[in-house]
Amino acid sequence: MAERIRVGLVGIGNCFSGLLQGIEYYRQNPSQEVIGIIHERLAGYGIYDIDFVCGFDVGENKIGKTINEAIYEYPNMVDWIPINQMPKTDAMVYEGPALDGVGLWVQNRVKPIQSSKTTDELAAEIKRTIEETGTEIIVSYLPVGSDKATEFWAQICLDTKTAFVNCIPSFIASDVAWARRFEDENIPCIGDDIKGQVGATIVHRTLAKLCNDRGTRIEKTYQINVGGNTDFLNMKEQERLVSKKISKTESVQSQLDERLDDDQIYVGPSDFIPFLGNTKLMFMRIEGRQWANIPYNMEVRLDVDDKANSAGIVIDAIRLARIALDRGIGGPIRPASAYLMKHPIQQMSDVQAKADCESFVAEGEHPASA
Ligand SMILES: NC(=O)c1ccc[n+]([C@@H]2O[C@H](COP(=O)([O-])OP(=O)(O)OC[C@H]3O[C@@H](n4cnc5c(N)ncnc54)[C@H](O)[C@@H]3O)[C@@H](O)[C@H]2O)c1
Repeated sequence: MAERIRVGLVGIGNCFSGLLQGIEYYRQNPSQEVIGIIHERLAGYGIYDIDFVCGFDVGENKIGKTINEAIYEYPNMVDWIPINQMPKTDAMVYEGPALDGVGLWVQNRVKPIQSSKTTDELAAEIKRTIEETGTEIIVSYLPVGSDKATEFWAQICLDTKTAFVNCIPSFIASDVAWARRFEDENIPCIGDDIKGQVGATIVHRTLAKLCNDRGTRIEKTYQINVGGNTDFLNMKEQERLVSKKISKTESVQSQLDERLDDDQIYVGPSDFIPFLGNTKLMFMRIEGRQWANIPYNMEVRLDVDDKANSAGIVIDAIRLARIALDRGIGGPIRPASAYLMKHPIQQMSDVQAKADCESFVAEGEHPASA
């Protein structure tokens, strides 16, 4: 039997709810082939080899509950498995420092706890929890715009020698100075900003690369996204979006031989439509020119459950972080970050990133699978 992977969660929102309920869905439906995942096994690790051992949030209705209870708390809305069918767990949700985590538009939904503890006191408690629970990987699904909170968690990982998977566009694994600190401490980090499985970014960059590789000239392109969960509500606050726009735009630009002028490309989350819930709609258009300067254009509309989209990728990121730990490899894990994240330290084509990631995994099998 494979060794267990012990994971701590930061930001017990819809993404984690989808991850945990998805694993339970497969557990309860053993005849159902495990689809919606790139690798069923990675160097011997399967999807049931992960233990979620602790969680951290700021919502007063989530702190003090077990993880499997907290994932159903308002304003979360993933309901693939009824709450009474989720297994019991001892893993609790603890208080984390709010810092810049809670935006203007979501504060009356998140209802952050009125904390009497300082950030330093919380940091000391968190480090104790990480040690007592044997957490070896922290995965962050904080809200967009949580730059200070992300730095807090990156520092916690450095202090506790815990690997870091950063699913949001606050730059750590792709920031040269932070990446060096993870390298110096030989702690793996994978980031930043998770790519959906068949999400807006991967579809847009793949089609942009196709148009580029087929020799056409792209003249302008846009991608607009709308959704109805707290992630989209939070992104109504434009000031929180700076790094999200960089992350999404660079992900497309990196696939072109010649960059588009800034005013010829728009990639961004654009609005909150409450009744969409976790459904994300993406509208994308590419305009360009072919042989003899003849114009062409294409439009794509993607309709996808955003939480299923992210869970199928983060489950690979967790296992790749563990493989890096097993092999004593620290710093930003470049192939994993390029393959699974929108804003890695080194952009690659998705074909190259997949090949490099698979070579990374194949370098040696996990002993339990031998
Ligand atoms: N396909 C995807 O869903 C996808 C893809 C890429 C990136 N992301 C990013 O993942 C993140 C999570 O998405 P989500 O839908 O789960 O969001 P969510 O709003 O449902 O959950 C965020 C959680 O973080 C908690 N939180 C806020 N401040 C905190 C703090 N300082 N410390 C600890 N917890 C805090 C909130 O209470 C909430 O439980 C977002 O930044 C989103 O943009 C998602």
